[in-house]
Amino acid sequence: MFAIAGCSLDSPFILAPLAGYSDLPFRLLCREYGASLVVSEMISCHALIYKQEKTMKMLASCPADRPVAFQLFGADPDIIGEAAALLQEFQPDCIDLNMGCPVRKVTKRGAGSALMKDIKLAEKIITAVVNNSSVPVTVKTRIGIDSQTITAFKFAAMSADAGASAITIHGRTWAQGFSGTADWEIIRQIKERATIPVIGNGDIKSYDEGINRMRESTCDAVMVGRAALGNPWVFSAAGRPEGIDAILIAANRHLELIEKHLDTNRVLAYVRNQIGRYFRDFSGSSLIRQSIHSCNSFPVLKEYILSLASPDHNRHFN
Ligand SMILES: Cc1cc2nc3c(=O)[nH]c(=O)nc-3n(C[C@H](O)[C@H](O)[C@H](O)COP(=O)(O)O)c2cc1C
Repeated sequence: MFAIAGCSLDSPFILAPLAGYSDLPFRLLCREYGASLVVSEMISCHALIYKQEKTMKMLASCPADRPVAFQLFGADPDIIGEAAALLQEFQPDCIDLNMGCPVRKVTKRGAGSALMKDIKLAEKIITAVVNNSSVPVTVKTRIGIDSQTITAFKFAAMSADAGASAITIHGRTWAQGFSGTADWEIIRQIKERATIPVIGNGDIKSYDEGINRMRESTCDAVMVGRAALGNPWVFSAAGRPEGIDAILIAANRHLELIEKHLDTNRVLAYVRNQIGRYFRDFSGSSLIRQSIHSCNSFPVLKEYILSLASPDHNRHFN
């Protein structure tokens, strides 16, 4: 049991925000497999206050999606404060602030990772959001700008002083992007000094690895991103199953949630990408992935995945 301010969580495993992936169906699936908190894709504060159609769709949620954190990004304290006030209508359980995204489109406007270079502005942003929110506000950042400029110690102290209820530390620097490995020793040192809960993040590939990372770093919780794609078992103690049957249950459930919550005529490439990820690292899996990528409509893809459960098909893959 772990809590972020008043928001209590039944497991220390959290689904990371993943732009292009952590939408409502995927968040629901991860909740069903044990994630205690799920974080939305990053939402532009500008797009939110202009109520852009695509952004409003990103706010879709439902009771089973809870607790959910909506993640905002931006570099203007007034605008992000206004966006936080607007967000209250959608009743998030937490608001998370993106202060670690290295993507150029985000940093060139002074948001995401660029805020690690301007701690005063980051503080104003957190204060503005805390003042406009009735739910806990959390911050997600990286360990620093580069290996010579580790900012997260100061950042964690500043975030706590500005009213943040928890901080997530991705153990890479801005300069690293997604290369190299996450530095869990620095995460441990940050946790040692922090006065708010610390959520460790970076390179966790299995439930057991998450438990070990938590033990070694003494972090309050861990956040898992890439390893959850096609692998919601990362949130369950039992881990990834061996047989294709259990894999098919998850893939079919994901398809069902996608069908319920998305316009399947418009998201075929995305669905093929998400579903293809379930089929890897077992004999015959690359053939299945090839077949998934050649399905030319959602019903065809759904039919194909259902057909994999037939005894005939199973004979080839067991
Ligand atoms: C495709 C992709 C999209 C991401 N989108 C976001 C995002 O919207 N907001 C954010 O704070 N981090 C984002 N991240 C970073 C992840 O949340 C996480 O910090 C990073 O992937 C390291 O964790 P992992 O090794 O468990 O994946 C993204 C990462 C990837 C690979």
